Amino acid sequence: MMFWVVRKEAFPELFGGAGIGYRNLLSEGIIGRESWMKVLFAGKPIGYTYTRIDMNDSVTPGCTISSRAALTMNVLGAVQRISANAAATLDSAFQLNTFSCQFSTGNAKTQVRGLRRTDELFELTVDTDGSSSRSMQVKVPKDAVLYRGKGCRKCRGTGYHGRTGLYELLTTTDAVREPIRRLFTEAVGAATADPLVIAAGFYEVLKPALLAAYRHYLEVTDPLADWPSKKLVEDFVADEERHLREIAPHLAGVDAREWKLHLTQALDDLGGWLGQETRLPLAAGYVWQQDLTPYTHPATCNRAPYPVCSSVFGLDPREDPIVRPWLTDPQTDARVIRLMVYVWLMMEMDAIDYLATVFYDTPAAPFDLHHDLARHLWDESRHSQFGFRQLPKLGVDLKTVEHSLDLYHILVQMPPHERYAMMTMEFEANSFPTKATVMDRVRELNDFEADTLLAFDRNDEQNHVRYGHRWLPEMMAMFGEERPTEEFVAATREKFNRLAGLYGGRTPHSLPREQRLTGDKLRRIAGI
Ligand SMILES: [Fe+2]
Ligand SMILES: [Fe+2]
Repeated sequence: MMFWVVRKEAFPELFGGAGIGYRNLLSEGIIGRESWMKVLFAGKPIGYTYTRIDMNDSVTPGCTISSRAALTMNVLGAVQRISANAAATLDSAFQLNTFSCQFSTGNAKTQVRGLRRTDELFELTVDTDGSSSRSMQVKVPKDAVLYRGKGCRKCRGTGYHGRTGLYELLTTTDAVREPIRRLFTEAVGAATADPLVIAAGFYEVLKPALLAAYRHYLEVTDPLADWPSKKLVEDFVADEERHLREIAPHLAGVDAREWKLHLTQALDDLGGWLGQETRLPLAAGYVWQQDLTPYTHPATCNRAPYPVCSSVFGLDPREDPIVRPWLTDPQTDARVIRLMVYVWLMMEMDAIDYLATVFYDTPAAPFDLHHDLARHLWDESRHSQFGFRQLPKLGVDLKTVEHSLDLYHILVQMPPHERYAMMTMEFEANSFPTKATVMDRVRELNDFEADTLLAFDRNDEQNHVRYGHRWLPEMMAMFGEERPTEEFVAATREKFNRLAGLYGGRTPHSLPREQRLTGDKLRRIAGI
């Protein structure tokens, strides 16, 4: 309020008019009025205000003015939802009789109520967080001057361009909210070495809470106005329900009671993902595991019962399943190429592992960047499923297919923007010539399914390279990288090669060559 006064004095041109008392707010003969205003900050919507005026001419003549405002803004590093509700009643002579104002942000709530006692004297009560209450008397002159905003063309002269003090001092960002990040970091789990216990926490605490939040959304939104988002959320609900069904047999018999209770307490402290439930503050003795063991990216990938190795690409058909020269050799039987490309697709599991680390390492990234990373992750998981599903159909025992871990081991040594640069500008951007040859060869087989899967893979990869062009410069800026993109990518490639010498080739074969899948075995499986 103080800020606004300063603005008024310093920038009178922002205000389009003024009037004495409240009468000038109301035109003659209205019985009610409603108005909405969008609140923009740096061109981005961050909230709205809603004002409503109701004339009452029955029991107590006069009128009620109520106003609500909601804003999402960054307050001291945490993104918070701030809401304000204000109401005033005027008597039949348009004199202020009572007013109230409630302001809530995150955990803090303040309420101010005013009641006219004598001609100009109001009794004011201020409640903070329901715990402390103060009363005082203040003077509100009958002829208070009320200013009207000048507006602009967009709002047809109704808004307050340039007004609004407080939240311009605070910045809004898309940054991941700290309490939510904290809970996810906790759920990744440093407390137990058993990945099934960690999975139980994720699937039996975090995801059911997400499902509850989706259901809450469906309950509180308008079936017509919010139709499109409701239809989407209905799909999310179906997905979440399916995930719970699918995971159940894998978690049967896993004793995760203690860990689940630990996570439930942290979640209850937030009142659910949307804060829609009653908050149960954490007990004083609650110990965050991440405070004891800070999160770091895992040193290696978890492939559960499946065998692992450094790389599946090589030159020797007695050693490795994907024999590089075979991919483009016109003499190679197309059936062998199809098998090799499915192994290649299945290996994209590592892309999920290292791309996820980029996600985690960019908490302050714009929402759209994370949106594209999420899509990217999902694509890679489909690609690896293409191989996982098709190989057994063609006679390959998945327990003989080693998973290559080199890329993860090397990339995790590099900062996130370098990881992302290698992925999009190097691995993906350079995969097209070979993939085009491979697709042509596979087409000889008249295998509609293989053609379709490879076409999807190629389209997705084109998108991933587009994402790279779009986001790499922003990610570089995030990490203070100022070189031109091309120069940075070239230097990163050099660095990767250097690190490959240090961190690559360190994972021994889980299986001896007699047991593991190799190029020679693929020829035999293909019937050659
Ligand atoms: Fe892929
Ligand atoms: Fe990709």
